[in-house]
Amino acid sequence: MLVCLTTQSLKNALSDKRKSHTIGFVPTMGALHEGHLSLIKEAQRANDLVVVSIFVNPTQFDNKEDLKKYPRTLEQDTSLLKGINCDFLYAPSADDIYQRNIRSTKYTFGGLEHAMEGKFRAGHFDGVGTIVKRLFEIVAPTNAYFGEKDFQQLQIIKKLVANYKIPIKIVGCKIHREKDGLAMSSRNARLSQRHREEAPFIYKTLQEAKLKFEKQSASKVDQWVHQQFREHPHLELEYFEIAHIKTLKTISRKRKGSKYRGFIAVFAGKIRLIDNIALN
Ligand code: PAF
Repeated sequence: MLVCLTTQSLKNALSDKRKSHTIGFVPTMGALHEGHLSLIKEAQRANDLVVVSIFVNPTQFDNKEDLKKYPRTLEQDTSLLKGINCDFLYAPSADDIYQRNIRSTKYTFGGLEHAMEGKFRAGHFDGVGTIVKRLFEIVAPTNAYFGEKDFQQLQIIKKLVANYKIPIKIVGCKIHREKDGLAMSSRNARLSQRHREEAPFIYKTLQEAKLKFEKQSASKVDQWVHQQFREHPHLELEYFEIAHIKTLKTISRKRKGSKYRGFIAVFAGKIRLIDNIALN
């Protein structure tokens, strides 16, 4: 595996490969877990070469403490990537990738940016849009892989490539879960033992909400989820929303033929966890 710590070194390494190879790209913020590895394996199956980026992007954090405490495990990540025969690791500094101007650009994504994460994390999707667009310009892959755990991010990135006519296929990959159902996330490593034990309640509640959604109205299911968390002593619900999978607009009434997902954000102490589930 070639480790590129600068943008120029990655560009040089890829320049003579582009014409004759397809390139799969998995952007990450590091602290790699099985969920990331499954994206990388999917990229390996469908491409000649795979690039993984590790960059904790400051402009997508609305909370300074969260940015400071975000796990950084480059050495461990590098050996994991070597172990699965990844071809390129791109791990630039902030000054390098942002060309010494660490700021996000303002984006509109047809309203997708105002829902859920956009409502609760000011500027988050401007930061994501800025870094992903920059990464796409540098890596210029054939295919790029994103997990459905960040379903809203995935929809926004599809919109980004459509808006800017970026010739990259965006591939969404299923959520990878721990045995007890907790969606894999780099943030899980920061949970206290108590919160780690309680956190599977999030997915358990989503699964029950899905069953209820077969027979009950969206607002009844919504009320039920809120009630579950009001009664929970250790987890604090930030939002639960039932939304259309394409528009991400919250619904209060189901329409025949439409597809919906339940989206949730929960605080386990200071750690914010998100998850989602297809409801129909
Ligand atoms: O999903 C993530 O890890 C990040 O939002 C991404 C896509 C790597 C951009 O920083």
